Amino acid sequence: MTSVAEAAAQLWPAARLLSALSVRPAGPEDREGVVQLLAGSSADALHQRFLVGFGGPPLTALVDRLLARDASSRSVLALAGEAVVGHGMCAHAKSWQGRPAVEIALLVRDDQRGRGIGSALLYALRDEAVAMRAEWIQVTTAADNRVVTAMVRAHAPGLQPSSTALR
Ligand SMILES: CC(C)(COP(=O)(O)OP(=O)(O)OC[C@H]1O[C@@H](n2cnc3c(N)ncnc32)[C@H](O)[C@@H]1OP(=O)(O)O)[C@@H](O)C(=O)NCCC(=O)NCCS
Repeated sequence: MTSVAEAAAQLWPAARLLSALSVRPAGPEDREGVVQLLAGSSADALHQRFLVGFGGPPLTALVDRLLARDASSRSVLALAGEAVVGHGMCAHAKSWQGRPAVEIALLVRDDQRGRGIGSALLYALRDEAVAMRAEWIQVTTAADNRVVTAMVRAHAPGLQPSSTALR
């Protein structure tokens, strides 16, 4: 007998990956997984994510911040089996028109792109933003980052991407 997941995977191969994918809150025990995610990401991907070139291996303080789950920020991970293949973060930002706002940011490992992982993180971050009582959600992106703009338009049409630089 074929399960629904197996039938879906035959019709749409990406479903096989999605059925093995889990998204959950990040915690201190995920330090090594996040270090591996950053180490396995290209310089371009890190620049698109952090909008700054920091060079060298990731600083301890940066990794700690990416695992935070406190009053001002929450983080989520995408896992394929044991491997961390994506990370998303939601943090309080400057209020917009007097209403509470958060900024979200995400990173998917270069070799895992185009399989729905970014979208899965986006949905999880939207839930986190609601839990943080945000009324506005913002994504700050480089002006030439068309992938994240397309993702936001396709999967979260109410979300507003804003560009930081024209290149
Ligand atoms: C942006 C990013 C998170 C997307 O992750 P992903 O796992 O590839 O995203 P998905 O597979 O869920 O694709 C989501 C949507 O993005 C768009 N998209 C994905 N890849 C694309 C590409 N190469 N070209 C154009 N649009 C693309 C599509 O609209 C897609 O929706 P669809 O599958 O219904 O067509 C990933 O590219 C990344 O980590 N980039 C580097 C860091 C970054 O730019 N972060 C955003 C700034 S904070």
